[in-house]
Amino acid sequence: MMFKGKDIVSIKELSKKEIDRIFEVAEEMVPIARGEKKSEILRGYVLATLFFEPSTRTRLSFETAMHRLGGGVIGFSNPKATSISKGETLADTIRIIDLYSDVIVIRHPYEGSARLAAEFAQHPVINAGDGAGQHPTQTLLDLFTMAREFGDIKGLNIALIGDLKYGRTVHSLAYILSELGANIYLVSPPLLRMPRHIIRELKSKPVEVDNLDDIVEEVDVFYVTRIQKERFPDPTEYRKVAGTYSITEKLLSKAKKSAIVMHPLPRVGEIATEVDKLPHARYFQQAFNGVPVRMALLSLVLGVV
Ligand code: NCD
Repeated sequence: MMFKGKDIVSIKELSKKEIDRIFEVAEEMVPIARGEKKSEILRGYVLATLFFEPSTRTRLSFETAMHRLGGGVIGFSNPKATSISKGETLADTIRIIDLYSDVIVIRHPYEGSARLAAEFAQHPVINAGDGAGQHPTQTLLDLFTMAREFGDIKGLNIALIGDLKYGRTVHSLAYILSELGANIYLVSPPLLRMPRHIIRELKSKPVEVDNLDDIVEEVDVFYVTRIQKERFPDPTEYRKVAGTYSITEKLLSKAKKSAIVMHPLPRVGEIATEVDKLPHARYFQQAFNGVPVRMALLSLVLGVV
């Protein structure tokens, strides 16, 4: 297992063993992430966060992760304020930032952008979302959340709900869940079905359902997603599907007691706020888990653990 210098572009490049190692380190990071314990293991290291798309959790949890370990952060969340607006290429931007930092986190609207960045950077590049492509660090924190709850992923009934066409979090997650032996249900409006090329790569065939009511009693994890409005080529298509599903207290009254509700967030109406108080709600804990998981990843690719 060689983490030092490794790019994290797609979840497919991580073995089960490597994921276990990330979780082992993440578990040790939890008290530091909570601020209960202090650490300086990344002192003197610089993280660059390059966000060409909006972000709250991903960028800020990466930055918190770096600060909590004593490291420094540079970067931008508004590319208009950089030389990109003067016409500088992504390749040149990456070459320069690579000279200023030890690890680069990038989010970009185009699929393949993180791969391109990794080709131009000497230092490790972590993909924080490339268009409708991949979002591997989100998948790691999602898996970490499930593993802490249930132990083994194998045999769990996991429903991926919502925008399975444009949602990058479910594209990464479905792949690894199938590798780990979960039973996957895909629940979406017909217009937002998971692309066939992604389904073809899954180890076991997922069950596609139109209506959550049909499976609600069997589900262990409800993984809900936002409709990715910004990726629709045609706004009228978006209007056809907007508001078509919502997780409510009434629906969950039929669910297993042990079932949990997850969401990468932001939510925009897919989970009623009344669900927040139910013992099923796990999305805020999930968002917190982004910090220890990203602390683990940064320490591993920088070779300090
Ligand atoms: C997701 C993303 O950006 O893909 N957000 C996140 O990273 N937690 C999901 C989304 O925007 O809907």
